[in-house]
Amino acid sequence: MSTQQGTSPAAVTATTEGQFEPKIIAFCCNWCSYAGADLAGVSRLQMPTNFLVLRAMCSARVDPEFVLRAFAKGADGVLVLGCHPADCHYIGGNYRTRRRIALLKMLLEQYGLDPDRLHLEWVSASEGVKFQSTIKDFTEKIREMGPNPLKEAEEESARVKGESHH
Ligand code: FES
Repeated sequence: MSTQQGTSPAAVTATTEGQFEPKIIAFCCNWCSYAGADLAGVSRLQMPTNFLVLRAMCSARVDPEFVLRAFAKGADGVLVLGCHPADCHYIGGNYRTRRRIALLKMLLEQYGLDPDRLHLEWVSASEGVKFQSTIKDFTEKIREMGPNPLKEAEEESARVKGESHH
């Protein structure tokens, strides 16, 4: 899996004027959504820069563990972007993805995460504009939700541990 970054790692965690800037991970399938992301980039479409694109050969190759790990490592939102139904290059991989995402959302709830922090969208290679609007809308939604509560819990426990060492 390869990565393409919306911005530098330092900027990913930066907050502008105290405003919460969500960290977004966008898993993109190689054949459609990654090309759509590329098109949005070369077309210089304006969008938030606080996302990191991770390329997978198919949306079905995005292991549930990758998504859970992204949240455990502090992502505030995760997007999974794949080819439109019937366009998947691996015969129905994206139908499997759709079922898997529904299950993952239930799992997220068990971890105390809002299932809307995970979002699946179909973006084709020619849909640079859709990629842009998906990133924009999702970033806005996550910004309203606030930071990933798992991250806050982890920071709090690290702080408590740090204090108990003094
Ligand atoms: S190849 Fe794009 S979703 Fe399967």
